[in-house]
Amino acid sequence: MNEKLLDGKRLAAEIRGEVGERVAGLAARGIVPRLDVILVGDDPASRVYVGAKARACEKLGMASGTHRLEAGAGQAAVERLVDDLNADPGVDGILVQLPLPDGYDTHAVLDRIDPAKDVDGFHPLNVGLLQQGRPALVACTPAGIMELLRREKIPVEGRRAVIVGRSDIVGKPLAMLLLHAHATVTLCHSRTRDLAAVTGQADILVAAAGKLALIGPEHVKPGAVVIDVGIHRITERETVERLFPGDEARMARFEAKGSVLAGDVDFVRVAPLASRITPVPGGVGPLTIAMLMANTVRAASLRRGIEA
Ligand code: GUN
Repeated sequence: MNEKLLDGKRLAAEIRGEVGERVAGLAARGIVPRLDVILVGDDPASRVYVGAKARACEKLGMASGTHRLEAGAGQAAVERLVDDLNADPGVDGILVQLPLPDGYDTHAVLDRIDPAKDVDGFHPLNVGLLQQGRPALVACTPAGIMELLRREKIPVEGRRAVIVGRSDIVGKPLAMLLLHAHATVTLCHSRTRDLAAVTGQADILVAAAGKLALIGPEHVKPGAVVIDVGIHRITERETVERLFPGDEARMARFEAKGSVLAGDVDFVRVAPLASRITPVPGGVGPLTIAMLMANTVRAASLRRGIEA
């Protein structure tokens, strides 16, 4: 079983090691890459993610700033902060944690970020460059998935890749990256008819729908590579018992913490069919943060005309 597991944690450590070398190279020239994160409101999951991003910067010898605004701060206050960070020559990367609370115009905020500092790759200029296959700052989760495929030598060219979920953060940019890597790409979503018939053709199946255990064995072709982008916190014992029957270690974690994490894939039932599969946690999640660090160093280099 273990040789099937795609160990995102290990690969993320590998990537962070390489990013750390680039940080040291920049430090020798007096440059310390800096990432600034904007968090509006107090969504608990977002707070955890933002904290993890700041800590990752610190560990790599990079600088970071966290800007917390109240949920009611207002569109103008968020945009003013983006303007200030755009104008600050010491800031290399700007990330607005999503989702913004209700009432905010997300596109208006993202459009305002200097594309050269857009380490999330969400600015329409970077999205357009990606679509055209030109070098750009690329969204971190899709970039992390491509790194995972590359480092694990999973062939992409000519393969059928099916992505479940058409978000701007994962599904759409990943479709472009896989297409540029010469896969035959299908994007599925909530209105796709007979989902299993489509996903069942996938050599590479990516679950990014945001629905707990959506992908079961009936969705997976034997031998497929399965990549799970979902992350759900399960707080009901009955759900843990249903998804992880007999998994005493997981139940012990549930008892200790009151919750466990699981993905969009019904891991216990799908893993026997898959040739390779990412776990949750420890799969795609750690890669996303590693790629954010890589994007920040890349932005810091490119802004100064240094080869990235
Ligand atoms: N919320 C969930 N994923 C992401 C991400 O990759 N970037 C930002 N900014 N917010 C997110």
